[in-house]
Amino acid sequence: MAMILVVDDEPLQRDILTRILSDAGYEAHAADSGEEALEMARAMNPDVILTDLKMKRINGIELMERLKSENGFSMPAIIIMTAFGSVSSAVEAMKKGAFDYISKPLEKEMVLLTVKRAVNMVDILKKNRELQSVLYNKFGIEGIVGGSRWVKDVINLVKKVNDSPVTVLVLGESGTGKELVARAIHYSGTRSTKPFTAINCASIPESLLESELFGYEPGAFTGAGARRTGLFEASNGGTVFLDEIGDLPPSIQSKILRVLQEKELRRLGGRETIKVDVKIIAATNKDLEKEIKNGRFREDLYYRLRIVTIELPPLRERKEDIPALVGYFLEKYNKEFGRRIKRVNESVLRAFADYHWPGNVRQLEAVVERAVLICDTDTITPGDIKGELKSGKGGSGIDIEIPEEGIVLEELEQELLRKAMAKAGGVASRAAKLLGMSYKTFWYRWEKLSVQNPSPNKEEVP
Ligand SMILES: Nc1ncnc2c1ncn2[C@@H]1O[C@H](COP(=O)(O)OP(=O)(O)OP(=O)(O)O)[C@@H](O)[C@H]1O
Ligand SMILES: [Mg+2]
Repeated sequence: MAMILVVDDEPLQRDILTRILSDAGYEAHAADSGEEALEMARAMNPDVILTDLKMKRINGIELMERLKSENGFSMPAIIIMTAFGSVSSAVEAMKKGAFDYISKPLEKEMVLLTVKRAVNMVDILKKNRELQSVLYNKFGIEGIVGGSRWVKDVINLVKKVNDSPVTVLVLGESGTGKELVARAIHYSGTRSTKPFTAINCASIPESLLESELFGYEPGAFTGAGARRTGLFEASNGGTVFLDEIGDLPPSIQSKILRVLQEKELRRLGGRETIKVDVKIIAATNKDLEKEIKNGRFREDLYYRLRIVTIELPPLRERKEDIPALVGYFLEKYNKEFGRRIKRVNESVLRAFADYHWPGNVRQLEAVVERAVLICDTDTITPGDIKGELKSGKGGSGIDIEIPEEGIVLEELEQELLRKAMAKAGGVASRAAKLLGMSYKTFWYRWEKLSVQNPSPNKEEVP
């Protein structure tokens, strides 16, 4: 329910107005002077103030100016009531930022209509502010944390490209912040009020990807009922983030090229050419030049995409960013979980600095998140990150399921050896390398645990 503050030094006028507004469903309060109105406004934070212009000491316009100097942007909307015929003071009020004015004698309908418009505007402003702060906090340039030269370069580049239609290619290992950077470009630039659409080219089957991106006309293929607009069309004026572009099928590559060059597309099964204005940001952790050599990626598309390239180095190459990131995630998860953890102790920070972070910033974030959850003092200590920083250079990519209980180490080792062997295509020397063992040790363990036998009896293992 919107709150309205009525300010008038005439008791009768005040009473009539508050009654009209209460009857209309507003929470109405009254003040008999500018001074009282100031105090009440500070205490109650009304949505709209309906004030008489002529009052002793603080008049309507002064009231408005005082509030403005105190509140800045989150101001109530002010409606000024003026005597009939005093147009010049009404104009002055409007110039100084009043929402509107109504002249006396007041007409009930006019009052209600003006108040309603004011309430609607305040509502929209409020929602907009909330939205802006959500967007800004999460996705703006503010969200890119770190003081290393790398991060500074990235931020400078983001600022350079966010207002231009130029295509951007973001490169980096998994978890280095490619999507974060794409969002920062969009939400800090001129397109921020238009849609940002992210699509992962690797996770959608080719046939579906095409119709997702370009849309289709009825009957374009079996099952294509009504017309459907694609993501490019739906994101008109905004940004499309093509994640994992290295996995884009060749048939779609040429269509994307057309969107980039001609700024137009055709829906599947459609004849009509549709103009689209979208900024494309592409990301990949693949080596596109290698993909070109292998004939999997169009060279002309590559040159179009890489006009501006932003490279995000792995976290292990910019460890000086770790303290700032840890602080940022600490705050983030304190808020999220309602915790009050103040710091991370020295030896944890040292462990972080020594670690090679195969999962980059995403992994660091997950480690801090978990630590915030399980920490039961105000300082994160080594116990809170126990088992999180797995050793091994870069990770083997071999996943092993750990059973809930009754776990026998030999069984796990067997499985690990078997999986490594499978991954290495049966080449023992390669399997040994995957596990960071010498060839000799590998064979020794293999024989010892008689891995060849798919389900060896525990008793048989010496
Ligand atoms: N510099 C940074 N400051 C703050 N948060 C970051 C930073 N870099 C990455 N992150 C956070 O790390 C997580 C992973 O980032 P993001 O999803 O952008 O990575 P990515 O490069 O797209 O990874 P993938 O290739 O696996 O999709 C996100 O939660 C993101 O907010
Ligand atoms: Mg990503």
